[in-house]
Amino acid sequence: MQALLLVGGEGTRLRPLTCKTVKAMVPILNRPFLEHLFSYLARHGIDDIVLTLCYLPDSIESYFGHGSSLGVRLTYVMEESPLGTAGAVKNAERYLEDRFFVFNGDIFTDLDLRAMMAFHRERGAKATIALTPVEDPSAYGVVETDSHGRVKRFVEKPKREEATTNLINAGTYILEREVLRDVPPNTRFMFEHHLFPTLLQKDQLVYAYSSDAYWIDIGTPQKYCQLQYDLLQGKGRTSLCSPMVDGRAGFGARSSLHPTASVEGAVIVGDDCSIGPHARIRGPVVMGNGCRVLAGAAIEKSVIWNNVVVGRNAWLEGCIVGSNSSIGEGCSVGQGVVIGEGVTVGDGIRLEPGRKVWPDTRV
Ligand code: GDD
Ligand code: MG
Repeated sequence: MQALLLVGGEGTRLRPLTCKTVKAMVPILNRPFLEHLFSYLARHGIDDIVLTLCYLPDSIESYFGHGSSLGVRLTYVMEESPLGTAGAVKNAERYLEDRFFVFNGDIFTDLDLRAMMAFHRERGAKATIALTPVEDPSAYGVVETDSHGRVKRFVEKPKREEATTNLINAGTYILEREVLRDVPPNTRFMFEHHLFPTLLQKDQLVYAYSSDAYWIDIGTPQKYCQLQYDLLQGKGRTSLCSPMVDGRAGFGARSSLHPTASVEGAVIVGDDCSIGPHARIRGPVVMGNGCRVLAGAAIEKSVIWNNVVVGRNAWLEGCIVGSNSSIGEGCSVGQGVVIGEGVTVGDGIRLEPGRKVWPDTRV
């Protein structure tokens, strides 16, 4: 089976993390998001993968190459300017088979793709859209169906009170290639606003495949963290994870924990890290490679990328820290703070909740 991945967006809601790292490459339990997605696709019998790139395209290709080490075959298709979700698929048409999957490149799910394919075939659908229930549909595309699962209406990002169902477009589709006839070439065109409404208008068979499989869109800092905390707590599934036994801390190669330091709860620490005297780490916490947590520092419920230094007696809770950043002595970094890559936070600074710090700056 074949899948096309949409990975060309700028990831604006995830800034400043996505200023230097494309959303599809942000680390999830210390591995690029796409690596988890490839392993999921391979598990479900999909090894022919077309990636449609636009924003920061080189980082993906230089990391994964042809994909052979991961057991998949990767083809890269570049857009000079963003063509939108359906425009990107049209732009890759020459690589596509008669029937293929499309994935938004920021979705982590356990959805059973073979069962979805069987559903699509049985109904002779031109397009099948996976649906998932969410608490607040206003951030997503709401999909209304009839009692047989045929799609009636598609409302992208409705106001909360206007949403008629909590079932939303889960960002996974199966398409017959012929639907691309309705997509103009080299034109910005969206599934959500353009192609799906056009297919409905033409009375084409568009079906919805609902499931309550694990599902999350990592497109905001809060959801980006949530996915990792869920995985640490055994919700969702990934075959890529440093060893953690009985929900207890997993430490990578050459990482050290001072005898007076404490670690509690679900914690993953990468390679070559050191946790200093009297430091406290309280999970869920994910820490990348090459980090140093100095004496007396405390970290709780946070995601720390690579080569981060956390100064003496600093206190971090509910935050994200990008690679190559350092947090000064005695700093306090509160809930929802997102620190980009290469940031220096001076000694004694208090970063108030929700603050975003742009890459390569000093505060
Ligand atoms: N190649 C390419 N070109 N990819 C793009 C472009 C483009 O112009 N624009 C967006 N993408 C990619 C993004 O990188 C992302 O992986 C995916 O398309 C979806 O874009 P988002 O910006 O994350 O969309 P969203 O989350 O607001 O909404 C979409 O996903 C929801 C589910 O998470 C919509 O499809 C909603 O209907 C849906 O409910
Ligand atoms: Mg998204």
